[in-house]
Amino acid sequence: MIRQIAGGISYIGVDDLALDLFEGQYVLPEGMAYNSYVIDSEKIAIMDTADADVADTWQANLKEVLHGRTPDYLVAHHMEPDHAALIAKTLEEYPSCTLVTGAVALKMLGQFFPGIDPKVLVVKEGDTLELGPGKTLRFFAAPLVHWPEVMVSFLEEDGILFSADAFGKFGALGKCGFWGDEDDDWACEARRYYFNICGKYGVQVQKLLEKAGGLDVKVIAPLHGPILRENLKYYLDLYNTWSSYGVETPGVFVAYASMHGGTRAAALKMVELLKALGCPKVSSADLSRDDMAEAVEDAFRYGKLIVAAPTYDGGLFTPVHNFIHLLQAKGWTRRRVGLIENGSWAPQSGRIMKDMFAQMKDVDVIDPIVTIRSVMKEADIPALEALASTINQ
Ligand code: FEO
Repeated sequence: MIRQIAGGISYIGVDDLALDLFEGQYVLPEGMAYNSYVIDSEKIAIMDTADADVADTWQANLKEVLHGRTPDYLVAHHMEPDHAALIAKTLEEYPSCTLVTGAVALKMLGQFFPGIDPKVLVVKEGDTLELGPGKTLRFFAAPLVHWPEVMVSFLEEDGILFSADAFGKFGALGKCGFWGDEDDDWACEARRYYFNICGKYGVQVQKLLEKAGGLDVKVIAPLHGPILRENLKYYLDLYNTWSSYGVETPGVFVAYASMHGGTRAAALKMVELLKALGCPKVSSADLSRDDMAEAVEDAFRYGKLIVAAPTYDGGLFTPVHNFIHLLQAKGWTRRRVGLIENGSWAPQSGRIMKDMFAQMKDVDVIDPIVTIRSVMKEADIPALEALASTINQ
């Protein structure tokens, strides 16, 4: 798709509607967009390439925008192959083009493209690149958002922040909208993308937000998802909440998995009890069936979590183990959690869950753990009510 996003700045990115899993693990119900841009002034700069799967379309878009001219610069903000896969092909086609990137990215370049030896301009924090009148690019380091080499750049006169993966989302632009204001639920897939891909790096995202706060940003041009141009405060405020591990939506997320329905019944009873107590929002997920990435997202979205799990092989039921492991990996923190365990002869899942949560920073596990033996009985209700009441406080 080719679109003008401002005078002399073209979008040349590509929608991929065929890909099943992003990064080999995240489902894509509405495809994925690989964004890329060309700044056309006295000098021509390509702003990142795209994934190898969309090479032909991306190259055709580039050629159409170039009208037979040769690009002067290829700016690589990020070396992950969904944006950098076509660097070598592009520099082969345009050998006089200079690769503009950071020192850390340059070290990675040869790993991805053995033997590559292009003309390179290494840029660092605060450096500028003049492309022509009114087209000054300024570079900022954004280490660990979410790889160590990431940079962003700011086209000063137009106020366009090329933000790399930050402010990206799952979804092809042909499905969710080209501009952010055309996307009627940007936050849903942006949140799933953020917590699963950048969730661990809140401190680093906060540093990037600080840098962006000192700029007169009018447009955010990310590497995935719609281009953001209106009501930027909405997006920036959400990113501030997410990266500071704040509570976006007050309420409780009930995550469960069940072998034969006994644990599910207890979890759904908890949902019912919380609603009866007037809990502002109660969300639930079956960790055996629902999208795990969405469950991770919801664990960060809400301030409180209940996890219900059977005991299995003397340990913790695998789908729940995977979920808590993912929370550990993504740096889940500053939350309160209540536990429901089930076991037919020697319940162990509660102890194991408690130990896993104890390894996380600023996570408060509510005592006591509620224990169900095989199926929930009337006698179990008071313990569930007590847990609901405690977590709802
Ligand atoms: Fe979209 Fe980290 O690459």
